[in-house]
Amino acid sequence: MSDYKIITVPDPVLKQTAHAVSGVDDSLRKQMDAMLQTMYDAPGIGLAANQVGLLNRVLVMDLSRRDDDEEPNPICMANPEIIYESEQMSVMEEGCLSIPRQAADVERPAIVRVKYLDYNGKEAELEAEGLLSHCVQHEIDHLNGVLFIDYLSSLKRNMILKRVQKLKKQSLL
Ligand code: NI
Repeated sequence: MSDYKIITVPDPVLKQTAHAVSGVDDSLRKQMDAMLQTMYDAPGIGLAANQVGLLNRVLVMDLSRRDDDEEPNPICMANPEIIYESEQMSVMEEGCLSIPRQAADVERPAIVRVKYLDYNGKEAELEAEGLLSHCVQHEIDHLNGVLFIDYLSSLKRNMILKRVQKLKKQSLL
């Protein structure tokens, strides 16, 4: 079990920018492991440090389908940086563990290449398209204090925020 609790809107930590890490050591690996566990428990496919109240540039993802008995395929990133994005765009419905039970279409570059430090602290690159591309861009946004609802009209954004408040009041979260 992990000790992390997922922070939800409108907590201000979700609007803050996380700072770069100096490298990946055992304590950061511990954080990555705990974040993965928190994400699996939720369940979700991606989680950024801000969402558990930590302001370092760390994110975890796993797009494997557990209900299909697929092997886990965790991806851990420290200091992720987008080094290429396609001109072609992609629209996909996104949700977020910090904005529970809400979803909306978000348009992003279809393909991105990301440079990062992996679980072992080695420099690595990932080229992503489809769901993985949306997921990694969504998680990197978190590290910059940006949420998927920030891409929506203020009308839609406020509607979603109100719905989450209502769920919280009814103790449904
Ligand atoms: Ni999210």
